[in-house]
Amino acid sequence: MKQILVTGGAGYIGSHTVVALYEAGFQPIIVDNLSNSKVVVIDRIEQITGQRPIFYQFDLRDGAQLDQLFKRHNIDAVIHFAGLKAVGESVEQPLRYYQCNLEGALSLFHVMAKHACHRLVFSSSASVYGDPVAVPIPETAPLQPTNPYARSKRMIEEFLGDLCVASPEWSVSLLRYFNPVAAHPSGLIGEDPNGPPNNLLPYIAQVGVGRREFVSVFGDDYDTRDGTGVRDYIHVLDLVEAHIKALAFIKHEPGCHIHNVGTGIGYSVLEMIAAFEIASGVAIPYRMESRRAGDVATCFADPSLSKTQLAWEARHDLAAMMRDHWRWQSENPAGYV
Ligand SMILES: NC(=O)c1ccc[n+]([C@@H]2O[C@H](COP(=O)([O-])OP(=O)(O)OC[C@H]3O[C@@H](n4cnc5c(N)ncnc54)[C@H](O)[C@@H]3O)[C@@H](O)[C@H]2O)c1
Repeated sequence: MKQILVTGGAGYIGSHTVVALYEAGFQPIIVDNLSNSKVVVIDRIEQITGQRPIFYQFDLRDGAQLDQLFKRHNIDAVIHFAGLKAVGESVEQPLRYYQCNLEGALSLFHVMAKHACHRLVFSSSASVYGDPVAVPIPETAPLQPTNPYARSKRMIEEFLGDLCVASPEWSVSLLRYFNPVAAHPSGLIGEDPNGPPNNLLPYIAQVGVGRREFVSVFGDDYDTRDGTGVRDYIHVLDLVEAHIKALAFIKHEPGCHIHNVGTGIGYSVLEMIAAFEIASGVAIPYRMESRRAGDVATCFADPSLSKTQLAWEARHDLAAMMRDHWRWQSENPAGYV
């Protein structure tokens, strides 16, 4: 069975990917420092899959431990999720973000190269596009990341591009995610942010279970259907399937490949609130507030390259996203606690 190292595998997207890797016949191995996740996730993965993933708790920047891990296991490929991801926090603490995201990535790539492991799938982000010049956004769109988090993603993309030019044995997939939402249908794993959620749907869902009073809607005067911001939300199960497809793709395609992972459909904040209310049967109070600096009106993917090259496309609609997100949140109102 092929062993796949999943960095950040105890996190939101990582844990769902570990489940999908088992289903696809791989043996996932997790490394996570638990800075934004909880060890109980490993038990939940076992409950879902009947298999307990091998789990190492350490920071990716610890090259010696990483080296030991690669000596102990015959790693076929790596899926690299580990990193810090809150845009606002990255503006306040750029050094911490660059240190964690860039040093973590460099440490990983260095050890991979040492052990001749050259296959990698990297979690990039649609935030590398910044304020898009047009929608839908193709992979060829201009890149103008507007904050340290997005710049750290773009820098890692560039490291990997350089690596593939210098060493043709590398096969790298850069997946640019749009807005992952929802959860595994078991209700056992899902997104459990530390502190107030940075993303819309986790915030709405926490209002739904009474953990927060109301949703702040930042800006109702954008040039969109109802004046509120429009984004491309993608079910986490569709997102993780793109990783399985990317693993298959890079097996035969050396070099550095970039793919958007989005549905190609945009929903406004008010449409998201309305869809959540239908799925949950819970009324969500909201308040209109002024625009936030740096927010864009509309952002959604052109996913056609992923369709043709990876044979991947999103299959879950908005109702399924809401249903699965609500199941997770209502069955775990306080998260993993
Ligand atoms: N969730 C999103 O909206 C979104 C969108 C675009 C891209 N991404 C990217 O996808 C990846 C996964 O996102 P997520 O939502 O699952 O985040 P997450 O915070 O739930 O998962 C990241 C995991 O990495 C771990 N980690 C962080 N730094 C580490 C380090 N130095 N060493 C070891 N472990 C470390 C954390 O403990 C956490 O479990 C991130 O790289 C993120 O930037 C996420």
